Amino acid sequence: MVTVETTENVPIATDDDIVRVRQRVRDAAVGLGFSLVDQTKLVTAASELARNTLVYGLGGSMRLETVLNDRRRGLRLTFEDQGPGIADTTLALTDGYTTGNGLGLGLSGARRLSQDFELSSKPGEGTRVTMARWK
Ligand SMILES: Nc1ncnc2c1ncn2[C@@H]1O[C@H](COP(=O)(O)OP(=O)(O)OP(=O)(O)O)[C@@H](O)[C@H]1O
Ligand SMILES: [Mg+2]
Repeated sequence: MVTVETTENVPIATDDDIVRVRQRVRDAAVGLGFSLVDQTKLVTAASELARNTLVYGLGGSMRLETVLNDRRRGLRLTFEDQGPGIADTTLALTDGYTTGNGLGLGLSGARRLSQDFELSSKPGEGTRVTMARWK
């Protein structure tokens, strides 16, 4: 069972908000005592997901939660938007797949940098990505 200890919401509507997402995730990771390598993994993944929320999801938010399972603390990040959604989530998670001018490595990279990762989306309704790392 996972208990949520703290929760915080960060809007994602501008490039500046992406900077704020990176700062909040870095601060929270430091606060939880994550190693420098883990901090960087979390910030890098969050940055990619926040950019997707802004560019493809047309804005949304990140929920940052400090969580506790029976043994460990973790950082869980949930990115949500009410954009066009993703018709084929498996395809979207394929290295190199992009419908924009990116490299198509953001989602797949974020998944590799996470320990828990979940992508759910409905065309016309929006997208939600949840990722977590545990200490
Ligand atoms: N929040 C979202 N809403 C709608 N579509 C999305 C969303 N996030 C990702 N996608 C779709 O999934 C594709 C793959 O995303 P991914 O982040 O891997 O690559 P990219 O953003 O195109 O390029 P990169 O992240 O490497 O700059 C995107 O091109 C887009 O079509
Ligand atoms: Mg991307």
